[in-house]
Amino acid sequence: MADQFDLVVIGGGPGGYTAAIRAAQLGLKVACVEKRANKALGGTCLNVGCIPSKALLDSSEMYEQALHKFAKHGVQVSGVALDLGTMLKRKDKVVSDLTGGIAGLFKKYGVTPHYGAGKLLKGNSVEVTAADGTKTVLQAKNVLLATGSEPTELPFLKFDGSRIVSSTEALNFDPVPKHLIVVGAGYIGLELGSVWKRLGAKVTVVEFLPNILPICDREVATEVHKLLVKQGLEFHLETRVTGAKVAGDSVTLLAQSKDGKDVSFTGDRVLVAVGRRPFTGGLGLDDAGVKYDPKSGRIDTDAHFRTNVPGVYAIGDLIAGPMLAHKASEEGVVFAEALAGMKPHVNYDAIPSVIYIWPEVASVGLTEEQLKEKGTEYRVGKFRFLATGRAKAMDEQDGFVKVLADAKTDRVLGVHILGPRASDLIAECVTIMEYKGSAEDIARCTHAHPTLSEAVGEAARMAWAGKPINS
Ligand code: FAD
Ligand code: NAI
Repeated sequence: MADQFDLVVIGGGPGGYTAAIRAAQLGLKVACVEKRANKALGGTCLNVGCIPSKALLDSSEMYEQALHKFAKHGVQVSGVALDLGTMLKRKDKVVSDLTGGIAGLFKKYGVTPHYGAGKLLKGNSVEVTAADGTKTVLQAKNVLLATGSEPTELPFLKFDGSRIVSSTEALNFDPVPKHLIVVGAGYIGLELGSVWKRLGAKVTVVEFLPNILPICDREVATEVHKLLVKQGLEFHLETRVTGAKVAGDSVTLLAQSKDGKDVSFTGDRVLVAVGRRPFTGGLGLDDAGVKYDPKSGRIDTDAHFRTNVPGVYAIGDLIAGPMLAHKASEEGVVFAEALAGMKPHVNYDAIPSVIYIWPEVASVGLTEEQLKEKGTEYRVGKFRFLATGRAKAMDEQDGFVKVLADAKTDRVLGVHILGPRASDLIAECVTIMEYKGSAEDIARCTHAHPTLSEAVGEAARMAWAGKPINS
């Protein structure tokens, strides 16, 4: 007799584990199936994504500060040296502590973990194949698909796990590459490019569009480009990659520049970071009759995460929307609460995004380009960190806050921040957008002095009243 559950979740990432915990908190009998060989929960995000990349970004930033910033503050250090082994071990410990924490939460809330590959069967049951080949069938009233995504591979630039790699291997380079060539100037290319540049690699980024960070507000992306060039990263835009040749320890990336000339870049590692694709291998979608878009691989869902098969749902990187951990977990919570009879929703207009380079980039809502395309009349308030006391005290004065507000109603339509700790500053703007607030609302909130948040208040004041106070 198969085990019976109210909900079986396939995939233990931020979408799946969050949905499982919330559903169990609300009294449902829940199992979560995860196929990762080391039985670690947390998905891409905790194991090979958000967390290890941020651990390396934080560590490499400290190294960078010790080398180049301490002296200006009057802190003399000598003999600064990189201990890459310790840095990588610390990163692994951060990951194992956090993945272990989720196993603890499953225990606390009564979610039953099943380790193995899950396959959806007709009639909404799930077959779990463990590493040793043992098969178990879980009977479910509802099944949630949350199997996430995998790196996109270019057909002419196949991953070889050593010289031509995805982000997973680029979290573990040892020694530091002499010359890292990055294909794609998006989130991963710039975050991991920054890590290895700070640790001593030469970094060359090849991008086929005319701008870096195509998803960002153009003014922000243009300034990021300048700052990263100043930090020593080299960019080749409008450059089309055509292939690569590996010879021993070296790899040559072949490409065409915008004027059609053949160009090449020789280094010791190539990181291909050109996006991610939903991961549905072995999930049994075709046999179970679940519809998906064959081109993008995304599963078709309605606003309540329902697929075309009754009782089967999907969330996270598997479905439409930004491939971000907090989007997946928010969907997980909302899905579970709706299943338990509550009436929550995800506000897709107020999902922030952050790129953890230095200075950081954070945004929520629409960009100026999107507002123009929609024909919306808007006002812009922009305030540079240079004019805030705290940024001056920190000696971190690059960047600005840009608030975009509706010209008639003053409602905040988008906020784009390039600057120190932008990742934390954006939270206030998300809250304002969630409550459909105005630029005046932000400006009238008292911002503590001296804090970086004063730049948010001043940019909002400018969007609302036409002038900031301190500039
Ligand atoms: P995933 O996290 O991919 O989890 C899916 C899980 O399902 C995996 O554990 C997988 O093993 C399991 N699985 C797959 N198939 C099966 C099966 N058949 N049976 C059982 N289990 C299965 N996002 C952010 O918001 N902030 C960041 O800073 C950030 N940094 C990132 C850095 C990197 C290098 C990368 C690669 C990604 C980063 N992301 C970040 C994106 C983030 O990791 C994803 O958006 C998020 O993990 C998606 O969550 P998910 O639950 O949909 O899927
Ligand atoms: P991305 O979509 O962010 O960037 C890919 C870049 O590659 C784009 O600039 C694109 O124009 C370029 N590109 C595509 N094909 C190319 C080609 N053939 N040659 C040269 N350039 C090419 O994808 P990335 O960086 O791989 O990250 C995947 C996803 O993971 C992100 O979109 C994001 O959703 C998530 N992520 C989020 C992070 C965060 O929240 N801080 C950090 C890392 C990843």
